[in-house]
Amino acid sequence: MADLILVLDEGTTSTRAMLFDPSGAAVETRSANLTQHYPEPGRVEHDAGEIWEKTLACARGAIEAVGGPDRIAAIGITNQRETIVFWDKATGEPLAPAIVWQDRRSAAMCRKMRQGGEETTVQARTGLLLDPYFSGSKIAWAMENWPQLAEAGDNLAIGTIESWLVWKLTGGLHITDATNASRTLLMALGSGSWDDGLLAMFRAPRSALPQIVDCAGRFGTTSLLGGEIPICGLAGDQQSALIGQACFERGDTKGTYGTGAFVLTNTGNTPPKSRNRLLSTIAWQLNGQRTYALEGSIFVAGSLIQWLRDSVGMIDVAAETEDLANAVPDNGGVYVVPALAGIGAPWWEADARGTISGLSFSTTRAHIVRAALEAMALQTQDLKTAFASDKTNWARLRIDGGMVANNWMAQDLADIVNLPVERPRFTETTALGAAMLAGVGCGWFDTLEDAAAMRGAVDQFEPQLGKAARQKRLDGWHLAVHSVIGDAH
Ligand code: G3P
Repeated sequence: MADLILVLDEGTTSTRAMLFDPSGAAVETRSANLTQHYPEPGRVEHDAGEIWEKTLACARGAIEAVGGPDRIAAIGITNQRETIVFWDKATGEPLAPAIVWQDRRSAAMCRKMRQGGEETTVQARTGLLLDPYFSGSKIAWAMENWPQLAEAGDNLAIGTIESWLVWKLTGGLHITDATNASRTLLMALGSGSWDDGLLAMFRAPRSALPQIVDCAGRFGTTSLLGGEIPICGLAGDQQSALIGQACFERGDTKGTYGTGAFVLTNTGNTPPKSRNRLLSTIAWQLNGQRTYALEGSIFVAGSLIQWLRDSVGMIDVAAETEDLANAVPDNGGVYVVPALAGIGAPWWEADARGTISGLSFSTTRAHIVRAALEAMALQTQDLKTAFASDKTNWARLRIDGGMVANNWMAQDLADIVNLPVERPRFTETTALGAAMLAGVGCGWFDTLEDAAAMRGAVDQFEPQLGKAARQKRLDGWHLAVHSVIGDAH
């Protein structure tokens, strides 16, 4: 009996296969770490072949553990967004490294285009900004620097990660869902179609691009997992988390603290227009109808803790940070601005670099680690201010992602954002959202609201910090941030 949904959750640092039953219980999980390639400072690449092989191995392992493919009703895919893959349609093999969302190689190109006054047009059409984060300038850079792409002619395929996985699973179906397409700088936000002017601007050949589809439906089948299994759900990971958190009403807001941190607010059926350098994006598209979101993108969250562990050696395991934060009564005047890959919303300074400020002889490892965790809430508060200036107020914040298992950080978020914070007991909300989409796509549920039956219980954190202590933290943070972002702000 087909009683499970297989979710492929392909993130920045790992890929996973998870099996969900209709109640939302994750009955099996397989995961594999992905190699991060840093060929030069500011450049981040993945091997698309490795992503495919590891994803396939995880999927096969999970299916085998539950007794075989007959148990799988449908596949949902969710993925790191903006990361772009180039492959050959004839061989199905990558033609170049995948350029990862964190990669800054097209910063100079974006700066030049901004200086040329092109950002206004780009923002009006796509809801995005001219920053190397998005796929468009990465594609332009690749077309200019990697001759094998033009040489491939009509055999060139370009796509984000879900597109690549669907191609490999189905043996040649070239599609992308509307949420992923909305991050490329190539799609007109209001129409949900590729825009010829934008394709020319970023040198993206139309023949290489996938067809844009809904987030739920019967898109194609794979025979690589033992039987014929339909692919029924597709969404970028942040949009998937918005769904997994059941943010179905206008104003509902979630923050996912993974490699980066991404806060999205559901804004309903018309594309929002930001005056405060937030992003307008597609939340989901069902039956051709689009729901939109306003987004604040923080580039460095869990990757800061990983850096403290792997590059600096300040901690042995991420879980240690909770005890260290609790070991000191406050940050001792220390602030960490984690601009290790430039700084995102609402500042967007691709060339900014991180800082640790306020060091003294009384500073200990615990202060620095605490300040690193505090940066999550402080960056989120900056987003709250920008959202409010865009007339989008949050009533509460629903949180998820690997970092929020840390109770100290969850409480600090409530204290600094000064709102109730809700944390689901099951924090793999990104994967859950993809399971909900696939559940709708394969007919388990009629609507996403029905699929929300898969969600479990939540815990709530209430703000407790006094007004003066909160203000002191905000003031200290703003001094530190301004030392990083420069005088332009
Ligand atoms: O936009 C980038 C985002 O999709 C990456 O997500 O989960 O790897 O932080 P994550």
